[in-house]
Amino acid sequence: MQVQLLYPVSRPRRLRANKLVRDAVAETSLSPGAFIMPIFVKDGVDREPIGSMPGYFRWPVGDALVKHVEEALGLGVDKFILFGVLPDDLKDPEGKASYDPQGVVPRAIRLLKEVFGDKILLFADVCLCEYTDHGHCGVVVGDGKRWRVDNDKTIAIYAREAVVYADAGVDFVAPSGMMDGQVRAIRQALDAAGYQDVGIMAYSAKYASAFYGPFRTAASSAPKFGDRRTYQMDPRNSREAVKEVMLDLEEGADIVMVKPALAYLDVIRLVKDSFPWSPLAAYSVSGEYSMVKAAAKMGYLDERLIALEVLFGIKRAGADLILTYYALDAAKWLGEGTPF
Ligand code: PBG
Repeated sequence: MQVQLLYPVSRPRRLRANKLVRDAVAETSLSPGAFIMPIFVKDGVDREPIGSMPGYFRWPVGDALVKHVEEALGLGVDKFILFGVLPDDLKDPEGKASYDPQGVVPRAIRLLKEVFGDKILLFADVCLCEYTDHGHCGVVVGDGKRWRVDNDKTIAIYAREAVVYADAGVDFVAPSGMMDGQVRAIRQALDAAGYQDVGIMAYSAKYASAFYGPFRTAASSAPKFGDRRTYQMDPRNSREAVKEVMLDLEEGADIVMVKPALAYLDVIRLVKDSFPWSPLAAYSVSGEYSMVKAAAKMGYLDERLIALEVLFGIKRAGADLILTYYALDAAKWLGEGTPF
């Protein structure tokens, strides 16, 4: 049977005819201002390449780090999140080094804020996995055979850690441990210490993901036994993400996050649609970065095109901010125009 068309057939291709018209009707835009660039900081004198993340380094707190941030600023990247990397001999079961005011993260915050002030927005990851000798994100009770991560002991330590970062001058703390009530505990501690203006970016829907592999090598934070499935989310769930985000918003989160990004674009969309009034960050994690790096090195795909397609995809899914190891490269590439 022939369908009788009342109007001449629509021709969507008219809107794709050339770059100018494609740009004119593009629904999604992306600029370096959306990026939050992760920075690993450590003690020492030289920057160290991270084997599992080609092109990425651990930075000592000093001039080279300042230059690194300066380069980013020159490209329009002005948001950074700090992760501390510690040698094993400074770790203990409770991650006490996490709230040492002379620790590597507070020192990096002080240095960067002293040099750049309000030109940069500085975030610091609040967790224990980089500081505990067992590598879990909280205090472990029991032994290697029968153990659990104690929720409430852990969030009390997160609160101390957050206040130390606030003392150092951080703009936002970013709790990533997926303990219940962590945002509330941190908010109360910050307020009690007079830091009403320090914000919280909560890793709200953080999944127990194998995509964190390269990061754990970078930060030497892999759990020595067991896994993180009793605190991080089950990859099979998305409605549960709405609950996690809702709780964090009630507890006082200023920005919420979905992590990882690429395998969780539906979750990003769901969270954005459920809480359209809340700023939403998505973390394109280490495995997403290293996968593209490895495939590009093999010549299987075009690094620039893939990285930008992925970042636009995350933005299109509903993320306002994107934590990405491609921040510097993508800022450069975007400066040359979009490739679509
Ligand atoms: C710490 C933390 C992790 C990441 C960010 N913060 C590791 C983990 O949960 O094991 C992962 C980041 C990445 O893979 O890029 N809790």
